[in-house]
Amino acid sequence: MAGVFLVSLGFLMPSSAPALQPVFVNLGTRAYTVQVGRNLLPNVGQEIARKLQGSKVAVITDSNVAPLYAETVLGSLRAAGKQPVLITVPAGEASKSMPQAERVLDDIAAAGLDRKSFVVALGGGVIGDLAGFVAAIYQRGIPYVQIPTTVLSQVDSSVGGKTGVNLKDAKNMVGAFHQPAHVFADVETLNSLPKREWNEGFAEIIKHAAIRDASLFEEIEAVADGRGDMTSLIRRNIAIKASIVEQDEFETQGLRALLNFGHTLGHAIEAAAGYGQLLHGEAISIGLHAATWLSTQLSGLNQDEMDRILSALKAFDLPLHMPQGMDEQDVLRRMKMDKKFVEGSIRFVLLRKLGESFVSAETRMEHMTQALDQVRAPSVS
Ligand code: NAD
Ligand code: GLY
Repeated sequence: MAGVFLVSLGFLMPSSAPALQPVFVNLGTRAYTVQVGRNLLPNVGQEIARKLQGSKVAVITDSNVAPLYAETVLGSLRAAGKQPVLITVPAGEASKSMPQAERVLDDIAAAGLDRKSFVVALGGGVIGDLAGFVAAIYQRGIPYVQIPTTVLSQVDSSVGGKTGVNLKDAKNMVGAFHQPAHVFADVETLNSLPKREWNEGFAEIIKHAAIRDASLFEEIEAVADGRGDMTSLIRRNIAIKASIVEQDEFETQGLRALLNFGHTLGHAIEAAAGYGQLLHGEAISIGLHAATWLSTQLSGLNQDEMDRILSALKAFDLPLHMPQGMDEQDVLRRMKMDKKFVEGSIRFVLLRKLGESFVSAETRMEHMTQALDQVRAPSVS
């Protein structure tokens, strides 16, 4: 069970604010805490220093995030006695690549990081995956800390230890499981997100509601209407992800695989569009539409339930159809390269009802083709 700490973290909060309730990810020797709250960045150094003794640290970020938050994080680390170096990669999915990983590794080596040193990933899911991967392989593995700054990375990618980079033809094909030592989800950083990047994060939140907790839809709908509490929604999503990861860290028990709902086709669509053309959450939104429709055909999801998922996606302006001109054969070719495609058969996640999902071994290529027909771009006359 993902536990909730009721410890007092006074230095992280204004004195009038209630104590934070970090989510504890209980993975034995790899356990860690996810702190969720506002204005955490100025104090991350102090908190990190309690857990990581090394003095040299590489703060890896991207070209959009660096001017916004790097100085605060570097200053906090220096104040805690650390010697940070800043490594900045170009913003965007194209940086989640082997050439960028190699460049960052060269910079880390040049800065003299050793096995006691550690990495801080400051940014969205691209930075978390890239920096986590670099930390996993540098000198056969050094610790890293996640400071996610997008909705998507706070609710999903910063927790669970999946790290990696893309290959030209398919997403996340090279990587490693490497759990972070600590995660700081500072909700304040989301204020600088452009609308499109804010919205894309809701694809993964809607996925969590669909596969695991139908009651989450109420909170999602409240945020869409401007009534909801984002900090509470983020914490709740982290707790869902943490509880799944705790039970199936390496995706061998069939439980963590449920998090791939919408991703089999979503990843193929993202790669087929060209990395960065569709944001990850946008591609996943189209994949969620396809997988939801297939669930109505194959596993008893009813129309009202499908409408609730699609309405939630639409409320965040997420696309339900592929872009004009997308080559469906290319999507299917890339899908066959996916890690979920094993010895010719697809492990495809379907819904029985909202909040109840399972991995189907019965889905076949013809189902994928039918699902792609459903999400084909509407014809323009
Ligand atoms: P991203 O990291 O590219 O961030 C989106 C954009 O927002 C970028 O341009 C970035 O520079 C900018 N940005 C980030 N924080 C900002 C801020 N606070 N203010 C202003 N701009 C900011 O993309 P993402 O959507 O965060 O993550 C997508 C990636 O996450 C994909 O590569 C996906 O495969 C991966 N992912 C990984 C996991 C996992 O478990 N490891 C899970 C889900 C997704
Ligand atoms: N985002 C899928 C997983 O972490 O397993």
